[in-house]
Amino acid sequence: MSTGESARERQAGFEELPSPVSEDADVEVEREQDAPEPAELDAETRERRDRALAHVRKLGDPVLRASAVPVERFDEPLRREVERMGKLMHDALGVGLAATQLGVLHRVLVYRAYPEDSLTALVNPVIEWRSDELEAAEEGCLSLPGVHVEVERPASVRVRARDEHGEELEIEAEGLPARVIQHEIDHLDGVLILDRVSREARKEAMRAMREAQETASAV
Ligand code: NI
Repeated sequence: MSTGESARERQAGFEELPSPVSEDADVEVEREQDAPEPAELDAETRERRDRALAHVRKLGDPVLRASAVPVERFDEPLRREVERMGKLMHDALGVGLAATQLGVLHRVLVYRAYPEDSLTALVNPVIEWRSDELEAAEEGCLSLPGVHVEVERPASVRVRARDEHGEELEIEAEGLPARVIQHEIDHLDGVLILDRVSREARKEAMRAMREAQETASAV
Protein backbone atom coordinates (compact mmCIF):
# COMPACT_ATOMS: atom_id res chain seq x y z
CA MET A 1 0.00 0.00 0.00
CA SER A 2 1.18 3.50 -0.60
CA THR A 3 0.43 6.93 0.70
CA GLY A 4 0.86 10.64 0.40
CA GLU A 5 2.37 11.47 -2.87
CA SER A 6 -0.29 11.81 -5.52
CA ALA A 7 -2.24 14.50 -3.75
CA ARG A 8 0.89 16.44 -3.06
CA GLU A 9 2.06 16.12 -6.64
CA ARG A 10 -1.28 17.31 -7.91
CA GLN A 11 -1.29 20.22 -5.51
CA ALA A 12 2.26 21.15 -6.38
CA GLY A 13 1.62 20.92 -10.12
CA PHE A 14 4.24 18.21 -10.43
CA GLU A 15 2.39 16.73 -13.37
CA GLU A 16 4.05 19.41 -15.48
CA LEU A 17 7.43 17.85 -14.91
CA PRO A 18 8.72 15.70 -17.78
CA SER A 19 7.44 12.16 -17.36
CA PRO A 20 10.07 9.67 -16.23
CA VAL A 21 11.07 6.90 -18.59
CA SER A 22 10.05 3.92 -16.49
CA GLU A 23 6.57 2.68 -17.22
CA ASP A 24 6.02 2.34 -13.50
CA ALA A 25 7.18 5.80 -12.68
CA ASP A 26 3.82 7.40 -13.03
CA VAL A 27 2.37 5.45 -10.16
CA GLU A 28 -0.08 7.46 -8.20
CA VAL A 29 -0.41 6.60 -4.62
CA GLU A 30 -2.75 6.97 -1.82
CA ARG A 31 -3.76 10.17 -0.15
CA GLU A 32 -4.26 9.84 3.55
CA GLN A 33 -5.82 12.86 5.12
CA ASP A 34 -3.66 12.68 8.19
CA ALA A 35 -0.46 11.77 6.42
CA PRO A 36 2.32 14.31 6.80
CA GLU A 37 3.28 16.19 3.67
CA PRO A 38 6.41 14.48 2.41
CA ALA A 39 9.29 16.59 1.24
CA GLU A 40 9.56 17.16 -2.49
CA LEU A 41 10.96 14.19 -4.35
CA ASP A 42 14.43 14.84 -5.62
CA ALA A 43 15.70 13.10 -8.73
CA GLU A 44 17.61 10.51 -6.75
CA THR A 45 14.56 9.55 -4.67
CA ARG A 46 12.47 9.27 -7.81
CA GLU A 47 15.04 7.07 -9.48
CA ARG A 48 15.26 4.84 -6.44
CA ARG A 49 11.48 4.62 -6.31
CA ASP A 50 11.27 3.67 -9.99
CA ARG A 51 13.94 1.00 -9.56
CA ALA A 52 12.04 -0.48 -6.62
CA LEU A 53 8.69 -0.33 -8.42
CA ALA A 54 10.17 -2.32 -11.30
CA HIS A 55 10.28 -5.30 -8.89
CA VAL A 56 6.63 -4.97 -7.92
CA ARG A 57 4.14 -7.09 -9.87
CA LYS A 58 1.34 -5.11 -11.48
CA LEU A 59 -2.31 -5.84 -12.18
CA GLY A 60 -2.62 -8.53 -14.84
CA ASP A 61 0.12 -10.64 -13.29
CA PRO A 62 -1.63 -13.84 -12.14
CA VAL A 63 0.54 -14.05 -9.03
CA LEU A 64 -1.46 -11.14 -7.59
CA ARG A 65 -4.52 -13.38 -7.68
CA ALA A 66 -2.86 -16.36 -6.02
CA SER A 67 -3.17 -17.35 -2.39
CA ALA A 68 0.11 -17.38 -0.51
CA VAL A 69 1.10 -20.38 1.61
CA PRO A 70 2.11 -20.29 5.28
CA VAL A 71 5.78 -20.05 6.12
CA GLU A 72 7.11 -23.08 7.98
CA ARG A 73 10.78 -22.32 8.36
CA PHE A 74 11.99 -19.24 10.19
CA ASP A 75 15.45 -19.30 8.78
CA GLU A 76 18.03 -17.04 7.24
CA PRO A 77 16.42 -17.02 3.77
CA LEU A 78 13.17 -15.79 5.38
CA ARG A 79 15.00 -13.02 7.15
CA ARG A 80 16.70 -12.02 3.91
CA GLU A 81 13.31 -12.01 2.18
CA VAL A 82 11.88 -9.73 4.87
CA GLU A 83 14.87 -7.44 4.64
CA ARG A 84 14.51 -7.19 0.88
CA MET A 85 10.79 -6.47 1.19
CA GLY A 86 11.45 -3.73 3.72
CA LYS A 87 14.02 -2.10 1.48
CA LEU A 88 11.85 -2.24 -1.63
CA MET A 89 8.85 -0.88 0.27
CA HIS A 90 10.97 1.93 1.64
CA ASP A 91 12.47 2.77 -1.74
CA ALA A 92 9.07 2.60 -3.45
CA LEU A 93 7.72 5.03 -0.83
CA GLY A 94 5.10 2.52 0.20
CA VAL A 95 3.64 1.98 3.65
CA GLY A 96 3.12 -1.75 3.19
CA LEU A 97 4.16 -4.59 0.91
CA ALA A 98 3.07 -8.21 0.63
CA ALA A 99 5.39 -10.98 -0.57
CA THR A 100 2.96 -11.87 -3.36
CA GLN A 101 3.60 -8.44 -4.88
CA LEU A 102 7.17 -9.56 -5.48
CA GLY A 103 6.03 -12.89 -6.90
CA VAL A 104 6.78 -14.81 -3.72
CA LEU A 105 3.87 -16.92 -2.50
CA HIS A 106 4.70 -16.70 1.19
CA ARG A 107 2.35 -15.35 3.82
CA VAL A 108 4.66 -12.49 4.69
CA LEU A 109 4.04 -8.78 4.78
CA VAL A 110 5.92 -5.72 5.94
CA TYR A 111 4.53 -2.35 6.88
CA ARG A 112 5.39 0.99 8.36
CA ALA A 113 2.36 3.25 8.52
CA TYR A 114 4.25 6.34 9.68
CA PRO A 115 7.85 7.34 8.98
CA GLU A 116 8.67 7.48 12.69
CA ASP A 117 7.52 3.88 13.21
CA SER A 118 9.90 0.98 12.89
CA LEU A 119 9.37 -1.58 10.16
CA THR A 120 7.16 -4.48 11.20
CA ALA A 121 7.15 -7.86 9.48
CA LEU A 122 4.18 -10.16 9.93
CA VAL A 123 4.60 -13.81 9.00
CA ASN A 124 1.49 -16.00 8.73
CA PRO A 125 -0.77 -13.17 9.95
CA VAL A 126 -4.34 -13.99 10.96
CA ILE A 127 -6.98 -11.41 11.79
CA GLU A 128 -8.47 -12.58 15.07
CA TRP A 129 -10.84 -9.73 15.63
CA ARG A 130 -12.33 -6.88 13.60
CA SER A 131 -14.23 -3.90 14.96
CA ASP A 132 -17.84 -3.47 13.95
CA GLU A 133 -17.01 0.14 13.30
CA LEU A 134 -16.08 0.65 9.68
CA GLU A 135 -14.02 3.46 8.24
CA ALA A 136 -13.70 4.59 4.64
CA ALA A 137 -10.47 6.09 3.30
CA GLU A 138 -8.61 6.35 0.05
CA GLU A 139 -6.05 3.64 -0.69
CA GLY A 140 -3.44 3.19 -3.33
CA CYS A 141 -1.44 0.11 -4.19
CA LEU A 142 2.06 -0.27 -5.58
CA SER A 143 0.63 -2.94 -7.92
CA LEU A 144 -2.04 -0.62 -9.33
CA PRO A 145 -0.36 2.42 -10.88
CA GLY A 146 -2.67 5.43 -11.07
CA VAL A 147 -5.39 3.95 -8.90
CA HIS A 148 -6.72 5.39 -5.70
CA VAL A 149 -10.08 4.31 -4.44
CA GLU A 150 -12.04 4.74 -1.29
CA VAL A 151 -12.18 1.48 0.61
CA GLU A 152 -14.32 0.74 3.62
CA ARG A 153 -12.75 -1.51 6.24
CA PRO A 154 -13.05 -2.26 9.94
CA ALA A 155 -11.44 0.65 11.81
CA SER A 156 -9.57 -1.63 14.23
CA VAL A 157 -8.22 -5.15 14.11
CA ARG A 158 -6.33 -7.57 16.30
CA VAL A 159 -3.84 -9.70 14.42
CA ARG A 160 -1.85 -12.72 15.48
CA ALA A 161 1.35 -13.46 13.57
CA ARG A 162 5.00 -14.32 13.98
CA ASP A 163 7.95 -12.11 13.31
CA GLU A 164 10.79 -13.14 10.99
CA HIS A 165 12.49 -14.93 13.92
CA GLY A 166 9.42 -17.00 14.70
CA GLU A 167 8.43 -15.02 17.80
CA GLU A 168 4.69 -14.75 18.34
CA LEU A 169 3.16 -11.34 17.89
CA GLU A 170 -0.24 -10.00 18.79
CA ILE A 171 -0.94 -6.61 17.34
CA GLU A 172 -3.87 -4.34 18.01
CA ALA A 173 -4.08 -1.66 15.39
CA GLU A 174 -6.45 1.14 14.52
CA GLY A 175 -6.56 3.81 11.87
CA LEU A 176 -3.87 3.74 9.19
CA PRO A 177 -1.86 0.77 10.55
CA ALA A 178 -5.07 -1.29 10.74
CA ARG A 179 -5.87 -0.33 7.17
CA VAL A 180 -2.40 -1.18 5.88
CA ILE A 181 -2.39 -4.56 7.61
CA GLN A 182 -5.79 -5.47 6.15
CA HIS A 183 -4.75 -4.27 2.68
CA GLU A 184 -1.61 -6.45 2.79
CA ILE A 185 -3.37 -9.52 4.19
CA ASP A 186 -5.82 -9.14 1.30
CA HIS A 187 -2.83 -9.43 -1.05
CA LEU A 188 -1.86 -12.73 0.60
CA ASP A 189 -5.33 -14.01 -0.32
CA GLY A 190 -5.19 -12.70 -3.88
CA VAL A 191 -7.58 -9.84 -3.12
CA LEU A 192 -7.02 -6.34 -4.49
CA ILE A 193 -8.60 -3.01 -3.56
CA LEU A 194 -10.49 -3.16 -6.86
CA ASP A 195 -12.46 -6.06 -5.39
CA ARG A 196 -13.56 -3.94 -2.46
CA VAL A 197 -15.21 -1.08 -4.33
CA SER A 198 -18.36 -0.63 -6.37
CA ARG A 199 -18.53 -1.52 -10.04
CA GLU A 200 -18.50 2.17 -10.99
CA ALA A 201 -15.50 2.93 -8.80
CA ARG A 202 -13.70 -0.04 -10.34
CA LYS A 203 -14.37 1.21 -13.86
CA GLU A 204 -13.16 4.67 -12.92
CA ALA A 205 -10.01 3.16 -11.37
CA MET A 206 -9.26 1.09 -14.46
CA ARG A 207 -9.57 4.21 -16.58
CA ALA A 208 -7.15 6.07 -14.30
CA MET A 209 -4.71 3.20 -14.55
CA ARG A 210 -4.88 3.14 -18.36
CA GLU A 211 -4.28 6.88 -18.44
CA ALA A 212 -1.30 6.56 -16.13
CA GLN A 213 0.14 3.85 -18.38
CA GLU A 214 -0.48 5.89 -21.53
CA THR A 215 1.22 8.92 -19.99
CA ALA A 216 4.17 6.80 -19.01
CA SER A 217 4.51 5.09 -22.39
CA ALA A 218 4.09 8.37 -24.30
CA VAL A 219 7.64 9.33 -23.33
NI1 NI B 1 -1.31 -3.14 -2.42
